[in-house]
Amino acid sequence: MYTVYVIDTIGDAHVLEFKKFEYRNLMELLVNKLHDEIGDCKGRGLCGTCHIRVHLSSTPMRFFEGLENNILKNQLEYYPNSRLACQILLDEHIDTMQIEIIGGD
Ligand code: FES
Repeated sequence: MYTVYVIDTIGDAHVLEFKKFEYRNLMELLVNKLHDEIGDCKGRGLCGTCHIRVHLSSTPMRFFEGLENNILKNQLEYYPNSRLACQILLDEHIDTMQIEIIGGD
C-alpha cells in the first residue's frame, strides 16, 4: 500500500491509501475516496477541474509541458507546482506525496 496526504477544497486533511494502479490516475482516487467535484473531462486532461498543488518537498516534480501546462496556465490560480491529478499515475513515485486540491475555475 502507498499513501498520499491530501488537503481538500474546504481545507480538511485526509490520508488516502492506494494500491499500485488501483485507479487509472490520482484524480480517480480523489473522486472515489473524497467525492470531490473534480474530473469533469474524466481524465482526458482538458477541463482543469482536477488542478492540484504538490507540496514541493514531498516528492520530485517531473518536468511537464504541452497540453497539461497549457490547461494549467489558463487557470486563475496557477503555481509552479501545479499539476493535473488525472495526469499522475498511482504508483510508488507518488508515495507520501502531499497535495492540495485547487479545483477548476
Ligand atoms: S479530469 Fe479534466 S483535466 Fe483532469
